[in-house]
Amino acid sequence: MTGTSAGVSIGDKTVELPTRSGTIGPDVIDIGTLYKNTGAFTYDPGFTSTASCESKITYIDGDEGVLLHRGYPIEQLAEHGDFLEVCYLLLYGELPTKAQKDDFDYRVTHHTMVHEQMSRFFTGFRRDAHPMAVMCGCVGALSAFYHDSTDITDPHQRMVASLRMIAKMPTIAAMAYKYHIGQPFVYPKNDLDYASNFLRMCFAVPCEDYVVNPVLSRAMDRIFILHADHEQNASTSTVRLAGSSGANPFACIAAGIACLWGPAHGGANEAALNMLAEIGSVERIPEYVAKAKDKNDPFRLMGFGHRVYKNYDPRARIMQKTTHEVLGELGIKDDPMLEVAMELERIALTDDYFIEKKLYPNIDFYSGITLKALGFPTTMFTVLFALARTVGWIAQWNEMIEDPEQRIGRPRQLYVGAPKRDYIPVSKR
Ligand code: SDX
Repeated sequence: MTGTSAGVSIGDKTVELPTRSGTIGPDVIDIGTLYKNTGAFTYDPGFTSTASCESKITYIDGDEGVLLHRGYPIEQLAEHGDFLEVCYLLLYGELPTKAQKDDFDYRVTHHTMVHEQMSRFFTGFRRDAHPMAVMCGCVGALSAFYHDSTDITDPHQRMVASLRMIAKMPTIAAMAYKYHIGQPFVYPKNDLDYASNFLRMCFAVPCEDYVVNPVLSRAMDRIFILHADHEQNASTSTVRLAGSSGANPFACIAAGIACLWGPAHGGANEAALNMLAEIGSVERIPEYVAKAKDKNDPFRLMGFGHRVYKNYDPRARIMQKTTHEVLGELGIKDDPMLEVAMELERIALTDDYFIEKKLYPNIDFYSGITLKALGFPTTMFTVLFALARTVGWIAQWNEMIEDPEQRIGRPRQLYVGAPKRDYIPVSKR
């Protein structure tokens, strides 16, 4: 619909606002001149109808349950690709040739170590600190170590910082886990692939070798792929907004981690598993479904619903398949939480409330069961989400910096506070 316009009448003013079309998906009405020409703002808390930017990276069709990364369906990437290949695709826009992939893998692998002084940051945290608190602190601290890649106007420095973060997040995440459980840090090994290296840094101990299980490392790699990027979600929008001020990439990613931590967003995987544990048995599901439907009860079914997906989250389907693969490989036959999850999903998908509100399981519904089976405590679930989403945040941050339309993000408001009034001395109050 590019080239047409939308008429807006406010009071005695009528303006024509240009519209623009993307490759696929909804058109947009460019409201950039609305305030100047009418004196009015638009109002859209939660941004349910607002496009914040142009992007070429990820496309979601919530009604059809479609997720594309640079045009490639998530199902095909999860089936045929590996996480670093998806990282390359998200960063550079095309699938890599063999030579490009080998070079990218080599560069990421050789940036996995962190500055040795980073380890001292961990000792400043209480042992029982939530690993996400540690991640917020340590990732933000990276900007104190890598001054040579914080000039965001230099494309080379931006790419160095991007590679450093993709490479170092597994190391920092594993260090956060090891600190949390009181075990010594394990250094990365350059002869392991990305997911295997991460699993070894988490689960190896000095007393015995860690043997990578290829089925489990493939599952871990696929979980990273499923969490890599997701359009302008809350944490990605946080990274873009932080980056719009010119903040360095490490600080922006730390802001994204902080936002992801919320239970309505990336914290839902931890919350979903805690919910399944609280429900405990299939018999108690109706009680919790009733709570979720009760307007006076703040309880929500964690892992259900999505701002964009009004159909099944395609990632949830792949996640469910991965869950069965991991449980099968580990010989976990009747996991009570999986039994509760599958029955809860069956009930919810037939319940009028969930059908009417189009509440389907999202990626967080099954991921927790899988991560628990892989050996991670629930407190590490959102850390793994942040580890994987770092490439999406970085790709979106780079795209924003390179966008000629990019300006500092500064929304306005509908003011409903007190009108102008004079100060009253305390003796007269
Ligand atoms: C992620 O944005 C992304 O792309 C995020 C993500 C990504 O990859 O980055 O996909 C990752 O964050 C997935 C979502 C994980 N969060 C959860 O699973 C938490 C539980 N879900 C809800 O909190 C909720 O569904 C949200 C936050 C996900 C979406 O919230 P919206 O779009 O603001 O929807 P809403 O809260 O306005 O809900 C619409 C209606 C409401 O009822 P009414 O007020 O219309 O009567 O549906 C109800 C809600 O009460 N509802 C639920 C529900 N989710 C919404 N009721 C019960 N259980 C739920 N889970």
